[in-house]
This record gives sequence, structure tokens and C-alpha cells, in this order.
Amino acid sequence: MAHILDLIRADHDFIRNILEELAGNPDTRDIRRLTLHRELLGHLHAEEVTLYARLRGAMPEEIGQSIREHGEIRDLLARLDVIPLGDVAWMLTLTELRDRIGAHFAAEEDGIFPRAEHHLSRSELFELSEGFESEKQKMAEFPVV
Ligand SMILES: [Fe+2]
Ligand SMILES: [Fe+2]
Repeated sequence: MAHILDLIRADHDFIRNILEELAGNPDTRDIRRLTLHRELLGHLHAEEVTLYARLRGAMPEEIGQSIREHGEIRDLLARLDVIPLGDVAWMLTLTELRDRIGAHFAAEEDGIFPRAEHHLSRSELFELSEGFESEKQKMAEFPVV
């Protein structure tokens, strides 16, 4: 089993790639928008109930801020989900979502991860990865509407 921060980094790269593909390739948008919905919501949820839950006591301000950012990302995704693909507002909203996600992932990778490594032992970080994977799995079982 991998280290949870490696799993999160891999998710971030995967989600950045989906966003890039969505922006650049109109032919695959109908499928990729469903992948984005599933991957992004699974990622946010799994982070909240594993890494964030464990770090909240040690760094309440940073984790509170990160959870607010998750809320903003979920709101933007919900807006994007109801805009028809051909609508000009779709690309504008995708760009906004992409910027928001990019800033959030960077804040995690550069700000939260180094502090997580300070507060948690290596074995705790490995242990958390199991919950992270199973929570993502649970979310993936909900149908996309
Ligand atoms: Fe996050
Ligand atoms: Fe993340």
C-alpha cells in the first residue's frame, strides 16, 4: 500500500489531466465530464474523512480553509454539471473550476503536505492510505446524475 500523500498526488495529476483534456478536446467531453464528476467528488470526500480528519486538531485554520475550498469546488462542479456542453457558459465555468482546483491542489501540495509529514509519522501516513482508497471506492458506487 502506498503512502497517502502519494495517492493524493497521483489523484491530483489524474484530475489535472482530465481537466486539460476537457478543455482541449471537444470530442471526448461527454464521457470525460462524467469521469471528472466521479473522480473529483471521490477525491474531496476521501481527503476530508482521512487526512483532513486526522490533521484538523493540529492545524484547524488550514484545514478549515481547505474544507471551504472543497465547498467552492463542489458548487462550481454542480454549476458545470447542469450547463449543456455546447453552451458558451460551459467553457467559462470549466476555466473557473480549473483555476480553482489548480490553486487548491497547489496549496495542498506546497502547504498542507509538508505540515502533514511533520505532524504524522510515516506509519500513520501509510495507514491512512487504506481508508482513502476505500472511501473513494464508496463514492464511486453512487450513480452520476
Ligand atoms: Fe483537497
Ligand atoms: Fe486534494
